[in-house]
Amino acid sequence: MLILPGDRIQVARLFNFFLQGEQLAFDCALRQSQIFPDDISRRFFATQARQEKFHARVFRCGIGILAPKGIGRFSKNAAMESYRNQLESALAGGDLALSLLGMQIILEGLGDVALQHISDGCGPRGIGFSRIRRMVLGQEDAHHNFGIRRFLAFFAGEAEAVETNRTHFDDYYGQLQNIIESVAPLFEHFDEDPLQYLKEFESSLPEFFQPESTPLKVA
Ligand SMILES: [Fe+2]
Ligand SMILES: [Fe+2]
Repeated sequence: MLILPGDRIQVARLFNFFLQGEQLAFDCALRQSQIFPDDISRRFFATQARQEKFHARVFRCGIGILAPKGIGRFSKNAAMESYRNQLESALAGGDLALSLLGMQIILEGLGDVALQHISDGCGPRGIGFSRIRRMVLGQEDAHHNFGIRRFLAFFAGEAEAVETNRTHFDDYYGQLQNIIESVAPLFEHFDEDPLQYLKEFESSLPEFFQPESTPLKVA
């Protein structure tokens, strides 16, 4: 992703979209830190919540610097809010595995790919903060990988779990595609291909999670 000086408002809008994701990640990790049964998970999620709070602050600062007069009419992403509702239902029902699937595995998995692309575009354009960028990316990677390990531990040796979770995966993944579709014009402004993000995300997953081929509706 190449970020040109005239793109400040568009970048700020992109950051605003990521800010919404960071706020969701914070709320989810905080709740997970209260409801998981084991100390290791509770500690991990408490740390994750602190990190997500920091990530949100980074994006908020970035928006303030790029667009001190505001970003105009740019409301919350409705598809992301719908994703939040589904995740909050899983948390309210105490479905720990489903919360991992929706947050750490799927949303953070794709977020990881998208943030990497944005970070790659910052360097060549002389946009600094490389240490912060590296730190955020490292933390997001850790959240995603912990989610995968913890999720698989829930279902070790349960053959029927694959089929059950296939349905849940497809459900969340379908919603993720709706989110991508809704922000596709914003990414296309930077000549980014959201389909490529999904391909990279899919190929990074262990076999257990490999999605069936679902064509994305991005034009
Ligand atoms: Fe984050
Ligand atoms: Fe994260």
